[in-house]
Amino acid sequence: MQLASKPDSQSFKALVVKETADGKFNATLEDKLFTDLPQGELLIKVLFSGLNYKDALSASGHKGITRRYPHTPGIDAAGIVIESVSPDFSQGDEVVVTGYDLGMNTSGGFAQYIRVPARWAVHRPANLSLKECMIIGTSGFTAASAVYEFIKHGIKPGSGKILVTGASGAVGSMAVAMLAQVGYKVVASSGKQEAIALLKQLGAIEIIGREETDDHSEKPLLPPRWIAALDTVGGNTLSTVIRSTAERGIVANCGMLASNKLDVSVFPFILRAVRLVGIASAETPMSRRLEIWNLISGKLKFSKLDKIHRSIPLSEVPEALERMLKASTTGKILVEI
Ligand SMILES: NC(=O)c1ccc[n+]([C@@H]2O[C@H](COP(=O)([O-])OP(=O)(O)OC[C@H]3O[C@@H](n4cnc5c(N)ncnc54)[C@H](OP(=O)(O)O)[C@@H]3O)[C@@H](O)[C@H]2O)c1
Repeated sequence: MQLASKPDSQSFKALVVKETADGKFNATLEDKLFTDLPQGELLIKVLFSGLNYKDALSASGHKGITRRYPHTPGIDAAGIVIESVSPDFSQGDEVVVTGYDLGMNTSGGFAQYIRVPARWAVHRPANLSLKECMIIGTSGFTAASAVYEFIKHGIKPGSGKILVTGASGAVGSMAVAMLAQVGYKVVASSGKQEAIALLKQLGAIEIIGREETDDHSEKPLLPPRWIAALDTVGGNTLSTVIRSTAERGIVANCGMLASNKLDVSVFPFILRAVRLVGIASAETPMSRRLEIWNLISGKLKFSKLDKIHRSIPLSEVPEALERMLKASTTGKILVEI
């Protein structure tokens, strides 16, 4: 049972990223004052957070993500409401906050406390613990947003194969598991030999190497291989994926691990009626956000969350974020605060 009241102490532990005189960025665990937190209707005691690629960018000084330092990253947080001036939340409520400005320019989830606007929080969905919500976090929410688009677009388990790129990453592995859970035939594209066994356990029926989704032939259309795809990589991978999508298929892109550029002709769109959709999970409107959490805690809920994550304490976050930038992490890293 967690104490749902503010501690007597004026301070709490938080990871703080600072810019050094030589332009580098260092993250250390520090005591932060409650008065350092921004305004907001909810003060939340954070029990769990999780690592996302955006956190790695924020912690390494990416000014497109975080403009001002010192800063506490962490775009995801789950915990207990300690103080609320919102009619929608009471002291003791279990809540989940993902996206919006959390961890970007608002002090984030790599801390014992956050203060946020009430409109950023959702009540913990029934069927999921706070810990499960944070294993899923923005990564799983993003994966589920793509599944939501596929369903809306009329893609059924019998329609054809579904590709996931960057499949061993946090978004990718969660997408493989969720798609397999609802019966889709999943093709996982990965650059990691050592991830093959995990991807099979998560339900992929076929694993292909990264090079198969990185075609440099400049052909405007390639033989159709899948009816839908979630691409986390961008650049030439996204171009290859679009050119290899079957007639009336759909490609959802959420990431830019290889590049934020896209070079593709219009032929996949005007000859095959392929549809390209963007996933921007952080700004998902609340009504759709709740629909997607319902999907996650309902028909997309899969039993292999334990296989997909490992837990670390706050003190190990800096090193884990560095590994994330080198694309050497597999699955999801949960932070136990
Ligand atoms: N739009 C949104 O709402 C949203 C939300 C969450 C994340 N994202 C974005 O989605 C992307 C993935 O995030 P994540 O949290 O899953 O990251 P992650 O856990 O670090 O996983 C990324 C995976 O992508 C693959 N990869 C990495 N670099 C690559 C490259 N240069 N070329 C091809 N594949 C590469 C690797 O998997 P393999 O070895 O298996 O290939 C890697 O493990 C990031 O760009 C992130 O910013 C967007």
